[in-house]
Amino acid sequence: MAKKTVRDLDVSGKRVIVRVDFNVPIQDGKITDDNRIRGALPTINYLLENNAKVILMSHLGKINHKDEEQTAKDKAKNNMAPVAERLQELVPDAKVTFVDVTRGKLLEDTISEMNDGEIVLVQNTRYESGESKNDPGLGKYWASLGDLFVADAFGSVHRAHASTVGIAEHLPSALGFLVEKEVKFIGDAIYAPNRPFVAILGGAKVSDKINVIENLLKIADKVIVGGGMAYTFYKAMGYEVGTSLLEEDRIEVAKNVIEKAGDKLILPVDTVVAKEFAADADHKVVKANEIPADMMGLDIGPESIALFRKELEGAKTVVWNGPMGVFEFDAFANGTLEVCKAITELPDALSVIGGGDSAAAAIQLGFKDMITHISTGGGASLEFMEGKELPGISIIEEKA
Ligand code: 3PG
Repeated sequence: MAKKTVRDLDVSGKRVIVRVDFNVPIQDGKITDDNRIRGALPTINYLLENNAKVILMSHLGKINHKDEEQTAKDKAKNNMAPVAERLQELVPDAKVTFVDVTRGKLLEDTISEMNDGEIVLVQNTRYESGESKNDPGLGKYWASLGDLFVADAFGSVHRAHASTVGIAEHLPSALGFLVEKEVKFIGDAIYAPNRPFVAILGGAKVSDKINVIENLLKIADKVIVGGGMAYTFYKAMGYEVGTSLLEEDRIEVAKNVIEKAGDKLILPVDTVVAKEFAADADHKVVKANEIPADMMGLDIGPESIALFRKELEGAKTVVWNGPMGVFEFDAFANGTLEVCKAITELPDALSVIGGGDSAAAAIQLGFKDMITHISTGGGASLEFMEGKELPGISIIEEKA
């Protein structure tokens, strides 16, 4: 059954708590990538236009609550103030008030004094130790500050926290436009793909991606696996991998995947190797089964790129999650760049990029506008692609 969306709520004059994902990278007090804030604007603007009082809540980074000194440092580092500043620039016509606390009189008074069409941004929800534990009292308290709840933090829907699930237990609830869009694009790609459907999975660890590989092997026509995890697959095939990243305890799992997948699974046939993990390391291309004992693989080679291009030919749906190599270093970015380019050159494919590193790579490499949908959720899009239940969506009310 379909979930309610913000369109199904009567928001005029109401205090609407919107859980957004403003967990954005910040360096020296400046936001280096504001895509997640921009992603929430359709919902925020809709609520403003419809005369709601918009109360925004988000986590930012991680806060250690076990050691007092560390808690103070984490809080200083993960203060939402720069986010409030950026948000105000993005919605210049609405008043944005930042409240530097997560509970108490200041927060309650600020909300009760709000006018329709204004925004209050609450301090980082993880300042509260009960947030990540979904403390029932905390969810109930936050819910008491609003009349309605809107879930628009796609990046956090895989977390059953007080601000994602706890509040929704006490208020009429609906999905925001960002979550609605993410669910549509990723859901259609995975559960109703136009075929051929090719999935490309990269990244460092088999352990992080094994569930998504297994789920997509059931659904996709081809599953291409690159990145650091390819070396564990090589080892499972009996190849030597030198000093490449290797998860010894996943070799058996990789063997099983290879056996089950047959010719659906495509692995890189060559690799760029270097003696050290460094941006300026000397490097060369070798065949997959010829990695020297003292070298590590840091990117896929040109033959793999050609092979992947061939496998992508004619694809009508492509889902990509995880880089093909160490794209942060120019010398080892080519595989990721070329795979991204190959996806954008497909004449009529719907392309979806899971969040995290591959989304960052696509944006950094200038391909943002050539991809049908780049997800704002890293872990969330991965869990969605694994076929897991997402608690931040399950809790939302269904349409009558
Ligand atoms: C993310 O960046 O993937 C989300 O904001 C969730 O953050 P978390 O992994 O710290 O819960």
